[in-house]
Amino acid sequence: MSYENILLEREGAVAVITVNRPKALNALNADTLKELDRAFDELGADKSLSAVIITGAGEKAFVAGADIAFMKDLNPVEARNFALLGQAVLNKIENLPQPVIAAVNGFALGGGCELAMACDIRLASENARFGQPEVNLGVPPGFAGTQRLPRLVGKGRAKELLYTGDMISADEAYRIGLVNKVYPAAELLPAAKALAEKIGSKGPVAIRLTKSAVNQGLEMDAARGMAYEAEVFGLSFATEDQKEGMGAFLEKRKAEFKGK
Ligand code: CAA
Repeated sequence: MSYENILLEREGAVAVITVNRPKALNALNADTLKELDRAFDELGADKSLSAVIITGAGEKAFVAGADIAFMKDLNPVEARNFALLGQAVLNKIENLPQPVIAAVNGFALGGGCELAMACDIRLASENARFGQPEVNLGVPPGFAGTQRLPRLVGKGRAKELLYTGDMISADEAYRIGLVNKVYPAAELLPAAKALAEKIGSKGPVAIRLTKSAVNQGLEMDAARGMAYEAEVFGLSFATEDQKEGMGAFLEKRKAEFKGK
């Protein structure tokens, strides 16, 4: 499939998506969101894929937000539909069967911060900057920043960022739990790939079931979340991976998972 606003590369069992509009600091317009939607459909259906990395083209930005030039003259209905499109794409990323790692290599503002928050794990370069500056433009966030940010960093810190529009450094984002780790810029992608490969060496079905249990469970109360976990734990015993994983441990050899 061909794309104009994103790049999609495969390296073994890992896919790298690069949002590729460096002249607009990789801002997300509707066409770019639709391409991301198609790309994640393609990747989600690929059983040979163990993880996806998403990053931004150039050295300055991951994604500097939704595209302000695209949004400026939208009417209320079009703006609502644009928010729904962005939310649907980010929900698809959040619920992709495989883990998605955000390699945040610069500005991650507004829709860019929201995109990073939809990923399973966020790694950042030292020059990354995070924020939800929508209030500077006279609008609230539209791609679920009001929902994912408080869930990640807590209500008080989220409201401070959402109400002030302040940008924070990668170190501050690490301190408040918005990113998992911070790397010198040149080490960011290699670190993301190493993490993707490490995850890829584990039981693929177990990873998918674990992702589902965390995501679904967080939307339930603890008792129902635990019941769901017990279901997916039981389900894993119907797989060859479970027999291989436990058999290999007892035979003191490395497991060779097949994802079945
Ligand atoms: N949309 C459209 N174009 C953007 C953009 C965006 N979000 N962010 C940057 N650009 C464009 C600039 O207009 C500029 O284009 P020209 O060269 O044609 O003038 C180019 O990218 C480079 O940007 P700057 O010259 O501004 O670069 P800078 O280094 O001086 O500043 C910045 C960098 C601080 C990131 C600044 O560009 C900025 O503040 N960008 C806007 C960030 C923002 O407000 N994001 C939230 C958008 S709203 C949103 O996302 C809503 C939602 O939740 C769905």
